[in-house]
Amino acid sequence: MPVKQMATVAVDIGHSSLKLIQTGVDGRIQKFVVHRIPEGCVDDLNIVSEDALIKSLKTARQKARLNPGKCFLVLSGTDILIRHFTLPILSEDELYRNILNEMTGYLPVDPEKYYIDYKIVEKVKEDNAEMYNVLVTTVHKRIVNRYKSVLGKAGLRVTVVDTGENAREKLLKHLAAQDKSFNICGGICILDLGTKFTRASIYHNGNYFISNVIKKSGQQLTEVIARNSGKDILSSETMKREIDFLNQPHPNAELKSAVTYEIDSLLYEIARLFDYYRNRAKSAVHTVFLSGGGALMPGLVEYVGRHLGLPVYLSSMLLPAARSANTVDHRGFTLLLNAYAATLREE
Ligand SMILES: Nc1ncnc2c1ncn2[C@@H]1O[C@H](COP(=O)(O)OP(=O)(O)OP(=O)(O)O)[C@@H](O)[C@H]1O
Ligand SMILES: [Mg+2]
Repeated sequence: MPVKQMATVAVDIGHSSLKLIQTGVDGRIQKFVVHRIPEGCVDDLNIVSEDALIKSLKTARQKARLNPGKCFLVLSGTDILIRHFTLPILSEDELYRNILNEMTGYLPVDPEKYYIDYKIVEKVKEDNAEMYNVLVTTVHKRIVNRYKSVLGKAGLRVTVVDTGENAREKLLKHLAAQDKSFNICGGICILDLGTKFTRASIYHNGNYFISNVIKKSGQQLTEVIARNSGKDILSSETMKREIDFLNQPHPNAELKSAVTYEIDSLLYEIARLFDYYRNRAKSAVHTVFLSGGGALMPGLVEYVGRHLGLPVYLSSMLLPAARSANTVDHRGFTLLLNAYAATLREE
């Protein structure tokens, strides 16, 4: 399915910040904002404080000078189930009935309570019979409806809901269609280093293949720095953003080794996912992109590259502003990857 650029507003709400972006018909970013939200306002996909989130959304919208109107919402969270199934080639109705049947094994309650969406990835041969490889995404209706209601109260009418996994797939396909030198054959890994979780997703020949949520990310790193430096959380957060603990010597050897240990254990989990992918897909990850705020940690790109033995880049280079020739520092756009990817439409 071809991917189209559109004039769109997209919203990505994380644990510590929400991202709003507006693109033009040519896909260029026209307006954007990364706005901090109060701590504890959102937990995984649950909106803990509606009022605080509505207020944050309104402020963010005004900061970005966005008028009230339609928007696309991109969601990531452990309550979104994404599964591949191999199913017989059937009519649309029958295929959907089969998918419902398969999903009931995974869903804790009545499937009626879920939005169930699917797409046919490709045809595959199994025991000489042609089958569909189907990617199914499910999310509880209550979760989506709550987001719609909250965004609506902030002047943002949700017309499309997407997942981070699918949005990034669209972006990779779009980039490959635009630029023949962009290689989506084999495995590409995108790491989203957020506040509470790191999500590692692998795309095989441009299609979403698998992901793993690792409960280790920005917040935990700050806490480790605080524990080992004796400093408060705020100072530790600043240290995390300014000091390269990974590649440079540091006078506090214990602190340096504690930070390095956190990243190493994250890389251990990622390497295990790569092994799984290699065994299942008979293919290897050839490039890694880092996204989310955690990607900006000094020295991380270099360190991850050295330890995985792969080319590693900030995902900001996947965004159009950074791909154009001007020299402004676009590193911060790594935070906008999911929101930007969500502005693309699959036709
Ligand atoms: N320059 C920087 N260096 C290191 N870490 C940073 C930097 N800027 C932001 N971070 C960290 O990135 C994290 C926030 O990133 P991001 O906004 O992508 O998360 P989120 O989307 O709110 O969270 P999640 O995806 O887990 O819901 C915080 O832990 C913050 O400390
Ligand atoms: Mg996030």
